[in-house]
Amino acid sequence: MEIIRTVEWMKQVSRRAREEGHMPGFVPTMGALHAGHVSLVRAAQRECSPVVVSIFVNPKQFGPGEDFERYPRALEADSQLLESLGVEYLFAPEAAEMYPPGFSSYAEVEGISGRLEGRARPGHFRGVATVVLKLLEIVQPWRAYFGRKDAQQARIIQQLARDFHLDAEIQVCPIVREEDGLALSSRNAYLSAEDRRAATVLHRALGAARDAVARGERDGTRLEAAAREVLAKEPRAAADYVEVVNAEAFEPAGRIRGTCYALLAVFFGTTRLLDNMRIEEKDGQVRCEI
Ligand code: PAJ
Repeated sequence: MEIIRTVEWMKQVSRRAREEGHMPGFVPTMGALHAGHVSLVRAAQRECSPVVVSIFVNPKQFGPGEDFERYPRALEADSQLLESLGVEYLFAPEAAEMYPPGFSSYAEVEGISGRLEGRARPGHFRGVATVVLKLLEIVQPWRAYFGRKDAQQARIIQQLARDFHLDAEIQVCPIVREEDGLALSSRNAYLSAEDRRAATVLHRALGAARDAVARGERDGTRLEAAAREVLAKEPRAAADYVEVVNAEAFEPAGRIRGTCYALLAVFFGTTRLLDNMRIEEKDGQVRCEI
């Protein structure tokens, strides 16, 4: 595996790969890699070659007072893991390489960026869209892989790719979970042992919404209530939002039609965890994917 530190060299490497007729795959990350990230790498390896993984803790997507400084950094362990997976290139630029003095252009995906995560974290999606646009321009992959764990982020990136006529195909992969149901996240490392045990409540809350769907419930608000009821029983958990939205605009779904998401953001102390369930309605039949 080659570790690439500069934008210029990354561009040269990807230009050469494309000229040689290869179909590069790309997995953008902020590092502290876990099995969720690994699943994206594996998906990329099944379909693409070479595979480029980026590790960049993007300062522009953290708000003031958020966890930019203490976000887990583990470049040594991460690069060993990627090497063992057979990844060809690790792109790990410094912040000054991505944002040199005078940097002043931003990508903003209007509408959807103002809801849910965007409302809770003003400027977050502007930072995400900007860095992902830059990374896709630098790496120029055939396909880029994102996790459904961050469903709103994936939707925003699909919109960004469409609106800016980017060549990369955006692929969205399933959520990888711990055995007890907790979705893997680099931020799980912040949880105390008690909060870690309590955090399984997210998965159980989604399960309650799924059970309600199985009983024939089709009303988004009632599905939210079913999830809220479970969250309320866990004193360590404080729900930030519980919303059932359509997959296009991320607006409240009302009655379940087409593709929807049940989205949760829940605090354990100062740590905020996300989870979601995909709800797929077709010809009156509904399938839930947690
Ligand atoms: P990060 O949180 O490191 O996540 C990198 C990718 O891994 C994202 O697409 C995310 O959705 C996916 N991912 C995280 N946990 C997952 C899980 N349990 N199962 C499946 N996929 C999972 O998301 C970011 O970084 C950044 O915002 C980034 C897109 C890199 C831009 O800075």
